[in-house]
Amino acid sequence: MPHITLQGQRALVTGANSGIGKAVAIALAEAGAKVVVNYVSSEQRANKVVETIKKNGGDAIAIHADVSKEEQVQQMFKQMIDAWGSIDILVANAGVQRDADFIDMTLQQWQFVMDVNLTGQFLCCREAAREFVRRGVDPKLSCSAGKIICMSSVHEVIPWAGHVNYATSKGGVNMMMQSIAQEMAGKKIRVNSISPGAISTPINTSAWNTPEAESELLKLIPYQRVGKPQDIARAAVWLASDDSDYVTGTSMFVDGGMTLYPGFREGG
Ligand code: BGC
Repeated sequence: MPHITLQGQRALVTGANSGIGKAVAIALAEAGAKVVVNYVSSEQRANKVVETIKKNGGDAIAIHADVSKEEQVQQMFKQMIDAWGSIDILVANAGVQRDADFIDMTLQQWQFVMDVNLTGQFLCCREAAREFVRRGVDPKLSCSAGKIICMSSVHEVIPWAGHVNYATSKGGVNMMMQSIAQEMAGKKIRVNSISPGAISTPINTSAWNTPEAESELLKLIPYQRVGKPQDIARAAVWLASDDSDYVTGTSMFVDGGMTLYPGFREGG
């Protein structure tokens, strides 16, 4: 990350022990931020991310919390603020899929995805915003009082059969993000989303890990490659930095053109 610096800033990335969250945590640390690596399962993988960051000369701690549980989220923020004084950047990334045909989808599958993907982001955004408001702008660190980045998906706009719970949660993330951005802008808090397309991570392995699956997937991606977690990490670093100081309430699609209706290249 050549010129962008987040030196001295403190970031919290939820679900940072794998996939997109892990890449975002590592990239924020490379840009100079201290990073809380949140995880809910696999402490070992979270510790590995912390190790990687430290090996690169950065600073990080792993904190366990289930983002869908209010007390656990509050405890995590308290632990971070006790350790480092405050928070400057939140990346509300933790997300899950529980796929099922609509008529077979159980209430549990629906509720679990809503709890993690939507309520989890609400709880983390609210705690971060409370601290940003309490602390205000520290001009030595950033021209804004705090930055929130919500991890959304192309499925905040692309309907997704067999994934009604997931697509609905991401549609909700978009409206939540914009409403928070509108409400908090006067306090100098910036709130944006990143909407990734198909990124090769553990959440969607079956969509890209065989040549047949990959070639099917590429039909949906005009740019003709599957995304990498680093594609998202670079966008996150920019949105967290003062380089994007006039950007708030935006969903940045990082998707190789997946949202360009590739089916309409011919015909229509
Ligand atoms: C989902 C992936 C999917 C991608 C593109 C993401 O939000 O988590 O499973 O491959 O959208 O459809």
